Amino acid sequence: MAIQWFPGHMHLTKKAIQERIGQIDVVIELLDARLPGSSANPMLAELTGGKPALKVLNKQDLADPIQTAAWLAHYSAQAGTRALALDASMVSPARALVAACHELAPLRGGMAKPMRVLICGIPNVGKSTLINTLTARRAAKTGDEAGITKLEQRITLADDFYLYDTPGVLWPRIIVAKSGYNLAASGAIGRNAFNDEEVALELLDYLALRYPQALAARYALTDVASLNDEALLQAIGRQRGALQAGGRVNLQKAAEIVIHDFRAGALGPVTLESPAEFAQWLAAGQALDAQRQIKKDAIELDRKVRFKQVPRPS
Ligand code: G4P
Repeated sequence: MAIQWFPGHMHLTKKAIQERIGQIDVVIELLDARLPGSSANPMLAELTGGKPALKVLNKQDLADPIQTAAWLAHYSAQAGTRALALDASMVSPARALVAACHELAPLRGGMAKPMRVLICGIPNVGKSTLINTLTARRAAKTGDEAGITKLEQRITLADDFYLYDTPGVLWPRIIVAKSGYNLAASGAIGRNAFNDEEVALELLDYLALRYPQALAARYALTDVASLNDEALLQAIGRQRGALQAGGRVNLQKAAEIVIHDFRAGALGPVTLESPAEFAQWLAAGQALDAQRQIKKDAIELDRKVRFKQVPRPS
């Protein structure tokens, strides 16, 4: 499936980060705790030049706590990196965030050397909600469509603690196919850019493998293990009355139900990727991408030879 969207403000965001990064002490990357690997910006480390990083696994209330612990351990093992999990129900997330930033940049603090923190995250990861909670006022607009936060803003969390917000954008190319599906399922990608049925089938495929009891409970299914993803979507559609003329299952409607239930946490706490799984998908995606690049280079060389821009290689 080709999930396509317009990268929109990606280049502006990239520029904004590059211009700001010189004055930044810590970079907070807000990740979706249900898909930490897929919701991480693969260009961020390069853009931020290896600044100390705080990975925040947001929406932990929707994620599988065992996987959240695994991801926290995974990030904490990385040099110059701390990780913590949050969700919107926490009354005062500021204390944990501020403490982690001070651990990462112990020499910053006080009026002479205020802590300067950049916060990044993909659309719908909950950045506006978190910032609203941190500032205890409607400083950032929240909403359910991709890409609401448009402008950089400086938020003063304390006299010596500044938070710079960046627009929530997705990078232009996702080389891990599974990440495309997981991002679509999470609501990070605008709904016109993907096919609900394909996303729901991928989602069911993973959930049937890792969380069969959650599917069985939500949709009153007796034998999840014996059904493939398509049969599951059919069964769910039938069970939820998503039918069309002639009693056939309306697969589009069934897919919307599955995606909605996942987003709303109606399936219980689930996570769509473990650190080991994501590492495998990434390696496969990178290998495929390298092959694609070799093919592209060969086509380009052939074109140049045909137009006599370069001699034919021996
Ligand atoms: P963004 O700025 O990163 O784009 O995201 P935003 O804060 O607008 O949040 C996107 C959606 O995620 C919102 O739901 C928000 O309520 C929800 N959300 C944010 N943080 C958490 C969290 O920790 N846990 C859970 N379960 N949900 C969270 P919405 O349905 O789009 O809007 P609304 O119904 O809340 O108004």
